[in-house]
Amino acid sequence: STKAVILVGGPSRGTRFRPLSLDVPKPLFEVAGHPIINHCLKAIAKVEDVREVILIGYYDETVFRDFIKDASTEFPQFRIQYLREYTALGTAGGLYHFRDAILKGKPERLLVLNADVCCSFPLGEMLRLFEEKDAEAVILGTRVTNEAASNFGCLVSDSHTKRVLHYVEKPESHISNLINCGVYLFATECIFPAIRSAIKRRTTRPRLLSYPSSDNLESSFVAGDDEDGEKNEVLRLEQDILSDLADSNRFFVHETKDFWRQIKTAGSAVPANALYLQKASPPPSATIVPPVYIHPSATVDPTAKLGPNVSIGARVVVGAGARIKDSIVLEDSEIRHDACVMHSIIGWSSRVGAWARVEGTPIPIGTHSTSIIKQGVKVQSITILGKECGVGDEVRVQNCVCLPYKELKRDVANEVIM
Ligand code: GDD
Ligand code: GTP
Repeated sequence: STKAVILVGGPSRGTRFRPLSLDVPKPLFEVAGHPIINHCLKAIAKVEDVREVILIGYYDETVFRDFIKDASTEFPQFRIQYLREYTALGTAGGLYHFRDAILKGKPERLLVLNADVCCSFPLGEMLRLFEEKDAEAVILGTRVTNEAASNFGCLVSDSHTKRVLHYVEKPESHISNLINCGVYLFATECIFPAIRSAIKRRTTRPRLLSYPSSDNLESSFVAGDDEDGEKNEVLRLEQDILSDLADSNRFFVHETKDFWRQIKTAGSAVPANALYLQKASPPPSATIVPPVYIHPSATVDPTAKLGPNVSIGARVVVGAGARIKDSIVLEDSEIRHDACVMHSIIGWSSRVGAWARVEGTPIPIGTHSTSIIKQGVKVQSITILGKECGVGDEVRVQNCVCLPYKELKRDVANEVIM
């Protein structure tokens, strides 16, 4: 199974989110109608084997109480709990401190999400890469401009294998424009030993830490050989663990081409709001009079009108202003702009020109025949174009059967075109 952790941070670090964070903790600030971390939960809910989500932070116990109550109703598939760090333990410190709670139920995979990012969270794709590569860790990456890259964790990867070769947190000089999105998937059997060896390394040699108060660049020495090992739990996933993971051969990056933004400053809530809204509202779609079937690979212009009783096959393209009714449009056909198709079958890979009219005659309900009598002769009532036919622009085709590979350049009615 997979467990998920959302790193929610704490009040002291929300300074750049002022003045909004004076009234609401940043993770609960609403964008696109929902708290920032609700968007994370929605994405986690799409991963089917997650039964538990743990929020880790150093906010007061009461801060997430109502949110968790509401979210537990919205996401009954997993249990949500908040675990509080007594002080900022760093992005890996909290994971390590609460390792027993995280490892309970023996999850094989651990998803870790920074609460302060907004993106489409392609967790399913990350899981697929994880399985495919039998990875220890998969990180979500995105491309940013060279100037922006140094504000983030930077990744050097092998574009072919997707393996992470180097990881440097906020490098001083440019190394890559592929950056850490703050979304990770770890094998639980690897991440905790990796944190443990980082602790071991640190207790054998003291090191300079500029944490947790990186906002004011205050640095402090953290004592080396620490007897109880408790006071010394500040651990940063990025600097202390990810760089090491890159030395293993099983650290991979999934590069997202979708949107990604950090939500640090209060102002960054506006782009986050816009991006989530755009994602939620489906693109404008054609006017549909049901029942209509449209193959997912078809492209229908939003100004077209379809239905009733229309089936649109795979890869079909329907242009602007086209009107289709009581018809079957077979795979790979194109109905150009302002064309009208009624009571017809358009054969595979056929093309109906702009302003053309392809029509049959409606068969009265209850008739078992598809032919009718017109001017004393029995004709086809449904117009049928065979494979790869072309109807010219503005051409009218009425009650015809047209054999494959024909080009209709003039108006035709009541004919079999051979
Ligand atoms: N529980 C807990 N405890 N959470 C923390 C702590 C802590 O001590 N410190 C930070 N966090 C949470 C924050 O709330 C945020 O969600 C996330 O961890 C990362 O915050 P920062 O440590 O401030 O790092 P950053 O945002 O400057 O950079 C990180 O995120 C970038 C993507 O947004 C790094 O991972 C970068 O490499 C990455 O590019
Ligand atoms: P308390 O800790 O007292 O609340 O009770 P509990 O032990 O029943 O709760 P917990 O949520 O830890 O476990 C419930 C059951 O779900 C156990 O059988 C766990 O093994 C299992 N479980 C917990 N988390 C996960 C998970 O993320 N994935 C899967 N597949 N199972 C889980």
